[in-house]
Amino acid sequence: MDFVAAFSFLFFGFTILFSMFSFLIYVWRLKPWCNCDVCKAYLSASWTKDFTNLCDWYTHLLRNSKTGTIHLHVLGNIITANPENVEHMVKTKFDNYPKGKPFSDLLGDLLGRGIFNVDGDSWKFQRKMASLELGSVSIRMYAFDLIITEIRKRLLPLLSSAAAKQEVLDLQDVFRRFSFDNICKFSFGLDPGCLELSLPVCEFALAFDAASKLSAERAIAASPMVWKIKRLLNIGSERELKEAIKKVDELAERMINQKRKEGFSNIGDLLSRFMTSISDDRYLRDIVISFLLAGRDTVASGLTSFFWILSQHPEVVSAIREEIEKVTGPNQELPNFQEMLQMHYLNAAIYESLRLYPPVQFDSKFAQEDDILPDGTFMPKGTRATYHQYAMGRMEQIWGPDCLAFKPERWLKKGVFEPANPFKYTVFHAGHRICIGKELALVEMKTVALAIIRGFNTVVEDPNQVPRFIPGFTATVRGGLPVLIQEREA
Ligand code: HEM
Repeated sequence: MDFVAAFSFLFFGFTILFSMFSFLIYVWRLKPWCNCDVCKAYLSASWTKDFTNLCDWYTHLLRNSKTGTIHLHVLGNIITANPENVEHMVKTKFDNYPKGKPFSDLLGDLLGRGIFNVDGDSWKFQRKMASLELGSVSIRMYAFDLIITEIRKRLLPLLSSAAAKQEVLDLQDVFRRFSFDNICKFSFGLDPGCLELSLPVCEFALAFDAASKLSAERAIAASPMVWKIKRLLNIGSERELKEAIKKVDELAERMINQKRKEGFSNIGDLLSRFMTSISDDRYLRDIVISFLLAGRDTVASGLTSFFWILSQHPEVVSAIREEIEKVTGPNQELPNFQEMLQMHYLNAAIYESLRLYPPVQFDSKFAQEDDILPDGTFMPKGTRATYHQYAMGRMEQIWGPDCLAFKPERWLKKGVFEPANPFKYTVFHAGHRICIGKELALVEMKTVALAIIRGFNTVVEDPNQVPRFIPGFTATVRGGLPVLIQEREA
């Protein structure tokens, strides 16, 4: 018995000492005492005196940095808006900059082994499989049909009803509901009906939102140990997260079982397609949940800022209407896929809005080994390496002196859309992990925007109010986007 007690004492003593030692190393690496101006402003939050959002302050620092790179020592984070550095991280030295364990830990409980959360062979396998599926014409047509159906059956009736009642609608909420219905149908073959006329409380959407929000909030804990201990004890936010993930899991399981019973070989959604080659149900669940996370809030965020920015640019709205008339004629039907491709101005306006308001504002990797970035910045092993999409859209070195202006024309050469270098325009990431749903997202955004702009005026309550973003993986505006909807004369 004495031996057992002595052993337990030694074991727990060692564990506590080891944990304290790890914590000290962690604190030491963070350098919480750094006295440089940037770190002091960060720690004292004095930047809030001059800037509405953290991303605006980072943009200011990056615009004023000679190399387009800054170092937040207290966060162990090197942040860059330099396209050469981006190309180096996401392409040339891709293997040295994985998403890394700190990131995959945050989302691990929700996303498991899904594409969004893994590196190495598991990522390669899913990337290859997903690229093949998403590149096929059949899935593009399937996705386009889903979008058109959601617009016809839900979005347009809802807007007409709001216009008739002269009701103020929160467009951000409408777009979140739209994109959730759409991505669930596309990924699972499930219709949650969030955009029904009554705007119902949608249990699955709530559980999914809670799970992604609580996972993102892990990143702002003082130390990862805080949320890991809470998870171990199953208390507070970690308990809520566990319950939310359980609901997501139950639904995924139900969908997989139903498909196994009813057959899936002729069905167009992603889950059915993946089920033909994967038999591990947990893996299937993980793969599909990554798509839900990647494709939901991003599209809604992009559409929200688009309609906000349009409220300050009536001349762009008129130009879009002119283009729609030119391409579709007096026809009142929604355009088909081919007609959508001819709308260069609309495409340019959406690219331009995403440049200034990217749904994903920054993207971090972790250096595996010591490295030197092309601008000469030393990147020690283990450092968090972030490139800042929001700042990159506002760099004079990349976009010229009018970089802060909203000008769709900058994307057009003789009326034809010309894409930019992906290492400069990083809205959809770049290099080997470039967004796999980019084309789908653009088609969805364009079709929704077109349907609204053609049929309605959206009067934003306060167009001059600068957006305040809620911290999270995707840019969400505090207070949403309240608008008065007016039906246009036919
Ligand atoms: C405007 C809308 C969208 C934006 C701005 C966007 C942006 C991004 C970005 C920045 C990444 C890189 C994330 C990282 O590696 O940390 C990414 C990856 C990804 N996106 Fe999108 N996305 C959008 C819509 C979509 C949609 C609709 C889908 C699905 C149908 C999708 C599927 C994915 C997937 C699966 C990845 C992971 C790719 C990989 O790791 O290899 N995205 N996206």
